[in-house]
Amino acid sequence: MNVLGIESSCDETGVALVASKGTGVPRLLSHALHSQIDMHQAYGGVVPELASRDHIRRVLPLARQVMAEAGLGFKDVDLVAFTRGPGLAGALLVGAGVACALAAALDRPTLGVHHLEGHLLSPFLSADPPRFPFVALLVSGGHTQLMHVAGVGEYEMLGETIDDAAGEAFDKSAKLLGLGYPGGPALSRMAAFGDATAFALPRPVLHNGNLDFSFAGLKTAVLTQVRKLGSNVCEQDRANLAASTQAAIVEVLVKKSMRALREAGADRLVVAGGVGANGELRAQLNAACQKARVRVHYPELDLCTDNGAMIAMAAAMRLQAGRAVPSHDYAFDVRPRWPLQSVE
Ligand code: KG4
Ligand code: ZN
Repeated sequence: MNVLGIESSCDETGVALVASKGTGVPRLLSHALHSQIDMHQAYGGVVPELASRDHIRRVLPLARQVMAEAGLGFKDVDLVAFTRGPGLAGALLVGAGVACALAAALDRPTLGVHHLEGHLLSPFLSADPPRFPFVALLVSGGHTQLMHVAGVGEYEMLGETIDDAAGEAFDKSAKLLGLGYPGGPALSRMAAFGDATAFALPRPVLHNGNLDFSFAGLKTAVLTQVRKLGSNVCEQDRANLAASTQAAIVEVLVKKSMRALREAGADRLVVAGGVGANGELRAQLNAACQKARVRVHYPELDLCTDNGAMIAMAAAMRLQAGRAVPSHDYAFDVRPRWPLQSVE
């Protein structure tokens, strides 16, 4: 079965084709992505209306590219999957509308997929796929969650952020440091030249005894330091502050993940979402997991941030697990706010 996946929840248009056969792990045949980063950069963040319009421009050419790269035609598509939510309503509607129109024209069913389930299952696209059950650390621009994952669709929330997400903490701190959008990769590049012990920044709720996160206080602490350094701040101080900020975020993510693994009695960790691309987070998780004899899995670097492959993959895995009912009714809706645990 060939599943075409369309992702359009935020500032990346992603299209991909995944093939599943029997009970084997579905395989990625091709994927294509257009990032809107350059377009939004001038505004310092995502402009929803511009995002929607750009998705409209990109999605069909990307779909044609994906089919050509797989050496297949649209007639070979058996199911069209799309991101149903959460995300920007207008942006989601583009992907959902195109997916349903395409499926109607091809007389094929559709399946709306939860964006975070896509991230969560994206490590199954890697050369070293995980096995259920595992603990998942989901760290994206909008979410920071620890989940116990027993199987496809069996997600138990262990802890989540009570305010900002980890990606947001990276992005907002980067903005305070005068770095562009998206801030995560820029801050982490600058941190490579800094001393992570130069600034004593808070590790919010690290010792509160549960698995929740809080990053809003960190942003305030970074702002205080930026103000103290003033307008004549030198490059080294900025790099030191970037490194100290990254260290604070990473330490909390690593310690809470290890705690979640201990409490769940799990020996596998899966990391997913944009922040999962962070080199320092990977290095520290690798070290902590090796010490605790835990296997850790990541998505391929280019599939950490938003993409269509994870949406096609989540749809294919849901079908395999018998946990999805593809729709032949081409009336569609989107869910800008949609908790992962509420997915049937
Ligand atoms: O998963 P994602 O692409 O989009 C959402 O679903 O939110 O995650 C985007 C987030 C942004 O906050 C971005 O700054 C962050 O992931 N990010 C990183 C890195 N690459 C992306 N944060 C830290 N280090 C990175 N290398
Ligand atoms: Zn995402």
